[in-house]
Amino acid sequence: EDDEPDVQSQEMKKFLKSLPRERGWLNRYQYLYGDFWVSGFALTGVISFQQNFQAKDSDVILATLPKSGTTWLKAIVYSIINRKICSLDNSPLNTTNVHDLVPFLDCKVYLNGQNPDLSGIPPPRVFTTHVPYPSLPESIKSTTCRIVYLCRNPFDSFVSLWHFHTRARPKDLEPISLEDCFDMFCAGASGFGPFWDHFLGFWKESLKNPKKVLFLTYEDMQMDNKLQMKRLADFLGYPFVENEEKEGIIDKISKFCSFESMRELQPNKSGNKRGGHFDVSSFFRKGEVGDWMNYLTPSMADRLKKVVDEKLGGSGLNL
Ligand code: A3P
Repeated sequence: EDDEPDVQSQEMKKFLKSLPRERGWLNRYQYLYGDFWVSGFALTGVISFQQNFQAKDSDVILATLPKSGTTWLKAIVYSIINRKICSLDNSPLNTTNVHDLVPFLDCKVYLNGQNPDLSGIPPPRVFTTHVPYPSLPESIKSTTCRIVYLCRNPFDSFVSLWHFHTRARPKDLEPISLEDCFDMFCAGASGFGPFWDHFLGFWKESLKNPKKVLFLTYEDMQMDNKLQMKRLADFLGYPFVENEEKEGIIDKISKFCSFESMRELQPNKSGNKRGGHFDVSSFFRKGEVGDWMNYLTPSMADRLKKVVDEKLGGSGLNL
């Protein structure tokens, strides 16, 4: 039986067989590639990205773990950068899916080993990746391109991940329970994780080089969206000027990119598949902080809290 029907190349099928593997959340298996976990169908894209992407100083790279609010960050960054070029009413976000406007490098641009010529894209090019900091292509680290990292508390990320993957899991595979996924999450076996290593890689780099990496959290974005948008705009080199503040531009972008507004836009409605698996509408579920309380028992919450304390304790990162 073919373990990886989505993987075309025989060479990659063979390579996957050589890697440590665990039960997958989405597919039958996930694989440990170097020091992070990845689905078989995504690995060819990860490797092509690592080998071929040439960063430019003017690039903006958005980095996240899956289900951290990537879609939201993409819409906000796109709107901040393009606000002088088009009004929100005329924003391409109204007609084109945000994941096409700000594509994933690993999971779209280089998916299946493609290697397109990206050199003609006008600056600033904005891309997204889930690859952990140490495994990013060298040119991202050696140029002055900017990285925005969006982190989300692992309790809500876990619940969001579980919904997202089980919704897209092929029907011919046996369902995977919340408890089984939780065990793997706590052991670090979730896409592009362990989650703590992913957080720490970008966190440490943001402390060392705050001009290079801006570290944001989903929770801060929910609590004070305006302040976080200002930080973002400053960091990206597109600061809001006094007049714009007076005209309420920040509020307008914030509202336009809100969960309720984005979810209603035509290109984000059901019927379109991304990456062969995910319906566009599944990127919009609840969009809340604290939904984990509806899914995790007190003992599960205790257990995850211990993992977080043990792995992140002393790092200065408080989630
Ligand atoms: P929930 O499943 O908790 O609702 P990603 O974009 O990285 O895949 O993350 C998806 C998560 O972000 C989902 O979380 C989704 O609902 C939430 N989300 C999507 N768009 C959002 C927005 N505009 N504002 C806030 N949260 C959003």
